[in-house]
Amino acid sequence: MANDKHTTVLRLDPLHPDEPALQRAAAVLHLNGLVAFPTETVYGLGAIATLPAAVERIFAAKGRPPHNPLIVHVPDVSRARALVGAWPPAAQRLADACWPGPLTLVLPRGRQIPDIVTGGGPTVAVRVPAHPVALALLRAVDAPLAAPSANRSSHISPTQAAHVLADLDGSIEMLLDAGATPGGIESTVVDLAVMPPRLLRPGLVTPERLREVLPNLDLGAVSHAAADTADANDGKRPPRSPGHIGRHYAPRARVECCCDDAAMRAIALFTAGLRCACLLCGAQSAARLAALPGIKCVSLPAEMHVYAAQLYATLRELDAAGPDVIVVELPPDTEAWLAVRDRLLRAAQE
Ligand code: TXA
Ligand code: MG
Repeated sequence: MANDKHTTVLRLDPLHPDEPALQRAAAVLHLNGLVAFPTETVYGLGAIATLPAAVERIFAAKGRPPHNPLIVHVPDVSRARALVGAWPPAAQRLADACWPGPLTLVLPRGRQIPDIVTGGGPTVAVRVPAHPVALALLRAVDAPLAAPSANRSSHISPTQAAHVLADLDGSIEMLLDAGATPGGIESTVVDLAVMPPRLLRPGLVTPERLREVLPNLDLGAVSHAAADTADANDGKRPPRSPGHIGRHYAPRARVECCCDDAAMRAIALFTAGLRCACLLCGAQSAARLAALPGIKCVSLPAEMHVYAAQLYATLRELDAAGPDVIVVELPPDTEAWLAVRDRLLRAAQE
C-alpha cells in the first residue's frame, strides 16, 4: 500500500520488556494512537477503550465493519470487574481457571465502555492476556485496551511482527515486536450474558477445559456460527458474535478442505493445470508430495497446540508461493481440534 506515514517498530524482549519502550507506547496510546502488541494468541491492535476517537481509528485501519465489537484487554480480574455491569459466579470460576490466558468473557457492559467498543450492543467482551509484553503494556498505560487482531479485516491474524506490517504498515503509529506469539490462534469467546452460557468462538481454551469449570456450557459453536451467518445474510437480526461470520482468517488463494486424501486431491488439481499448495496434518502423506516439485507442501504435527502455533504463519507462507488453491487436510473431527477446524473451514468459505 502506498503510504508515506511511518510505523515505529520497537523490538522488545518477550519475557523482560524494556520499561522506557513501554512508556513510549503508553504515551502514543494516550494521544489517541494505535499500538500493535503481542499477546499469547496473536498480535492485537490496541487503542485505549475509553477514548472513542482512538477506537474509531482501529476500525478505519482494519477496514472493519462498525457493528463488529472489540475485546477489551485488562491486566487483572479486578479491572475486568470494573468494566462490566454484572460479574456472575461463572465469570469468577472461569477467570480463576483461565486468566491470564486465552479466554474472552462476554458480559453485560459497564457504563464507562463507549458504544463504539460494543458495536452499540448491551455486552462487552473482556480478557486478561497471558503475554508478559501485553500485561506490562496494560500496566504502563493504566487503561483498558480495546484490541482486535492486528490484521486487515477478514485476513489471516498476525502471529509475527512482519505479518502486522504486511497489513498495517503506515496506518498505525507503533508496533511492539517481541517475536512470534506462542499460541497462534485466537482466544476462546464465551457468552455469559445468556443462560446457559454459550461458546461463541472456539479457541485455545478447549471445550474439555471449559466444561470442567462450566458443565452447562452450550457448545453449539459451529452450528450457532452457521446460523449467525444465515441470519446476518438475511439481515434478520444482529449476529450474536458478529466477527465470527462468513469467510474469515483467509489467505488470497482459494482454500479447499479435504476430509480424506488431501495429497491425492492436490495431485489431481496439479495435473489439471492448477498451481497448488498443500497443508497436511501429520507426517504420513507428506512423502508422496515431496516427490512433486510443482506442489508446495507443508506438514504440521498432529498435536493441536503445536499445529495451532504454526497454522497462520504456514498459511501465509503457502499463500506467498502464489498458488490458485491451497488444499488442506482437515485435522480429526474431535472437540480438541474444534478451534483449528473452525479457522480452516472459515478460510475455505466462498
Ligand atoms: O486472541 C484474541 O482474542 C485476539 C487477541 C488480540 O486478544 N483478539 C481477537 O479480536 O481475536 P478480534 O476482534 O479479531 O475478534 C474478537 C471476536 C469477534 O468475533 C467479535 O465479534 C467477538 O470477539 N466479540 C467482541 N465483543 C463481543 C461481544 N460484546 N459480544 C459478542 N461477541 C463479541
Ligand atoms: Mg480478528
